[in-house]
Amino acid sequence: MAMQQLYVTLNNGIRMPQLGLGVWKAEGNEAEHAVDIALKAGYRMIDTAAVYQNEAAVGAAVRKSDIPRDQLFITTKLWNSDQGKASVRPALEASLRRLGLDYVDLYLIHWPMPARGRYIETWLEFEKLQQEGLVRTIGVCNFQIEHLERLRQHSSTIPAVNQIELNPHLSQSELRSYGKEHGIHIESWSPLGGSKTSGSLLTSKPLTSLAQKYNKTPAQIVIRWHLQHDLIVIPKSINEERIRQNFDVFDFVIDHDDMETIDGMNTGTRTGPNPDTMNVALNPTMINLGPNIANIFRRRG
Ligand code: A2P
Repeated sequence: MAMQQLYVTLNNGIRMPQLGLGVWKAEGNEAEHAVDIALKAGYRMIDTAAVYQNEAAVGAAVRKSDIPRDQLFITTKLWNSDQGKASVRPALEASLRRLGLDYVDLYLIHWPMPARGRYIETWLEFEKLQQEGLVRTIGVCNFQIEHLERLRQHSSTIPAVNQIELNPHLSQSELRSYGKEHGIHIESWSPLGGSKTSGSLLTSKPLTSLAQKYNKTPAQIVIRWHLQHDLIVIPKSINEERIRQNFDVFDFVIDHDDMETIDGMNTGTRTGPNPDTMNVALNPTMINLGPNIANIFRRRG
């Protein structure tokens, strides 16, 4: 089987690479180096966010590569403190400046922050940015069905993507079914179970046995599981070997029974904040990245 990137077609007809690099918690040079390695390894989709404070590093690596811009797919996200009619456009413009790009391929609302009640007006601004070509596609992150239903009542634009925490321990079947029904692609964040628990997910029994069976690593089995479920997937790594390893997943297929075995690992356990109660809207510059950001979210979540 050829080593070949897979693509999904989003609900606006745009093709998006199904496997990309996540860069949460990767700082400065580290992020630039990771993106550089990833692009050389064949990745064409990079997922960053204003709050990660590494858009400049991502942009530097993208511009340094000789890959034509139209072959790359760059995602960034509007941070919580910038939700609201007046702040969306300046926030995107600042992201584009940091990235050094004229447009992003996908712009996402990072969290619904239901207690603030601004995601509808934010979404209506997103529609305008898309009409103007500053973003090719718009979507959301961490939206629950209730939030998606509210969007549907106020806008005729269905989000192309809902990026949610998803891995074999948190299989999110309801949001996946809803996405299928409404043409919303699901993108998995912390697809390997995240940094805190990746130990427990990736060293757990069904995955280590399957890794042996397929002559792959547990991380490759998990990434393949996402792909075979039609999920868009953005494993994060800053390690050269693991960045390459995570892209080496196009030459095998997990059989039906083994997919079901992995499906059976669901415990419904989140490692990140609960979107219903996550309402942190600190300015990104006030947020000390690294392990602290997760603690801030957890405390308030
Ligand atoms: P590192 O950056 O040192 O490679 P997730 O994408 O689920 O958030 O998981 C990211 C965590 O998993 C990071 O701590 C990352 O560490 C680690 N990781 C990424 N790829 C692999 C891999 N192939 N095997 C083991 N751990 C991995």
